[in-house]
Amino acid sequence: MPLSATLAPLIMGTATFNSQYNADPYALPTTELVHRALNSGIRAFDTSPYYGPAEELLGRALDTDFVRTNFPRDSYHLLTKVGRIASSSFDYSPAWVRQSVRRSLRRLHTTYLDAVYCHDVEFVSPADVLAAVRELRRLRDTDGSVRHVGISGYPVDVLCDLAELVLAETGEPLDIVMSYANFTLQNTRLRSRALPRLIAAGVDCVPNASPLGMGLLRRRGVPIGSMGDFHPAPDALRHAVHAADQLADAHGDRLEVVAIRFALESWLRDGAPVGALGPPLARAPHADPGFLSAATMGTGERLGVSVIGVSTVDELTETLRVWHSIVDGLENRDEDLEKTSPQDTLPTTLTPSDGLITDRAWSRSRRTHILDLAAKIQAVLGPEWVDYAWPSPDPDFVNVLPADHLAALEKDAAIPDVDTKPVGGHLHLQPPAAAAAAANAMVTPPMEALEQRGPIEAAPANITL
Ligand SMILES: NC(=O)c1ccc[n+]([C@@H]2O[C@H](COP(=O)([O-])OP(=O)(O)OC[C@H]3O[C@@H](n4cnc5c(N)ncnc54)[C@H](OP(=O)(O)O)[C@@H]3O)[C@@H](O)[C@H]2O)c1
Repeated sequence: MPLSATLAPLIMGTATFNSQYNADPYALPTTELVHRALNSGIRAFDTSPYYGPAEELLGRALDTDFVRTNFPRDSYHLLTKVGRIASSSFDYSPAWVRQSVRRSLRRLHTTYLDAVYCHDVEFVSPADVLAAVRELRRLRDTDGSVRHVGISGYPVDVLCDLAELVLAETGEPLDIVMSYANFTLQNTRLRSRALPRLIAAGVDCVPNASPLGMGLLRRRGVPIGSMGDFHPAPDALRHAVHAADQLADAHGDRLEVVAIRFALESWLRDGAPVGALGPPLARAPHADPGFLSAATMGTGERLGVSVIGVSTVDELTETLRVWHSIVDGLENRDEDLEKTSPQDTLPTTLTPSDGLITDRAWSRSRRTHILDLAAKIQAVLGPEWVDYAWPSPDPDFVNVLPADHLAALEKDAAIPDVDTKPVGGHLHLQPPAAAAAAANAMVTPPMEALEQRGPIEAAPANITL
C-alpha cells in the first residue's frame, strides 16, 4: 500500500528534542508534548538518530501505558532517518544503514519503521545514496523492519536529481522526499522548482518540513541551543526578517503565526499531488463515532503534508489552533471556494469570537488575509531574500567519520535482537536486550528524571484548539 494512503498531512518533528535547538533537551516536556499531540489527533512523528537524544525521548514517550492502551502501533506513523552521524559525519554504507535501522527500532520500541529517509543527501555522492536506498529496500523486502524508503535534504535541485536517478537506476520511484525550509514565507522553491520534477519522478509523498525555516521566521529570532548559533541564515536575511516581523506587528499579527499558517495552509493545497489521504486530525479514541468532520475523516482527496517542530506546550497549542482553523476551511470545500475575496472581513485575531460567522467562513477570510499579508512581507524581504537558499553543504565541507564510529558499528552489531517480544507492533525489550541496549547507547537520564512534572495521561479539556 502506498504511504500516501494512510499518512496524515500533519507530522510532528522532533529535531527540537536536541541541543541544537534547545539548551537542555532533557528539560523539555517531551513526553507531555508527544502525549498531547496524540490526544489532539496527530498521528505521525519524524525523528532521526542525528537529533541527539530525540529518538530515545520519543521512544520513551511512546513506551508508556498511556500510549500502549490508547494508541495501537498501527494507529500512528514513525519516520526516521539513516546516514547522518554528526554535523560533518555521514555513513551511507549498507552495513551502517542496517545497524542504524536496528538501533532506531530499539530506541523507538517498535518492530517496524513506517518510513526511513537517507538523511541530508546533498552531503554524500549519488552512488552512496543509491546504495543506501537499495539497502533500505532490501530490509523492506526481507525482514519488513522498514515499510517505505525516501530521502531528505535542503537543496531542491539535488533532491530532484536524486529522485530521478533512483527511478532511472532501480525502476522504482522513491516513496517519500522531504524538503525543509523550502516552502515558507521566505522561500517557495519547493513549489516552483521541485514539485513538477518530483511528481514526474513518481515520488508518492513530499512533506514540507520547517514551516518557520528552522525557527528563522519568528519574532524572537533563530533558536540558540547549547551548540550555539547553528542557523545558516546570513545576518542581512535576519535583519530583513526582523523588518517583516514589524510589518506583521503593524497588522496586528505575529510573524510566526503568519508563517505557520501560510506554509501549512498553502502546502495543504499546493502539495496535494504529492500529499496524503489520512485525516488531518485523527479522532480521539473515545470520541462519538457519529460525529463526522473533514478534520477526522479527511476530504477524500490528498492533502499536502507538513512537518512542524515545537519545543513547548504553548507552541504546540498555538500550532494546533492554527491547524484547526485551516482544517475548518476544508469543510464543504466546493461550496464556496470562489466566494472569499479581499473585500470580505479580514480577521486579525486568531479565532472566531463573536459567533456571527461560521468557522468555515472565518477560515476562508483568514486565509485571504494571510495571503495578502504574505505578499506584503515578501515585498519587505525584497528580491534579494525571497527564494534565497543558503549553501548546503558549505563549500569547504569534508566528510569526517569520528574515530569511534567503527567501534560503535561493531558494538551495535553484537547486540542480539532475538529476545524481543513484539506486542501489536510495540516492542518490549526483554532483560538481555534491554541491558545490551542500555550498555549500547546513550546518555538519556532515567524516566523519573524526565517526569518530575508528573505523567500527562490526558490533555486538559480546556485546551483551546
Ligand atoms: N534534514 C531534514 O531531514 C530535516 C530538516 C529540518 C527539519 N526536519 C524535520 O522537520 C521538523 C520541523 O522542522 P523545524 O523544527 O525546523 O520547524 P520550524 O517550524 O521551522 O522551527 C521550529 C522552531 O520554531 C519555534 N516555534 C515553533 N512554533 C512556534 C511558535 N508558535 N511560536 C514561536 N516559535 C515557534 C521553536 O523554537 P524554540 O525551540 O526556540 O521554542 C522551534 O524550535 C523537525 O523537527 C524535523 O523532524 C528535517
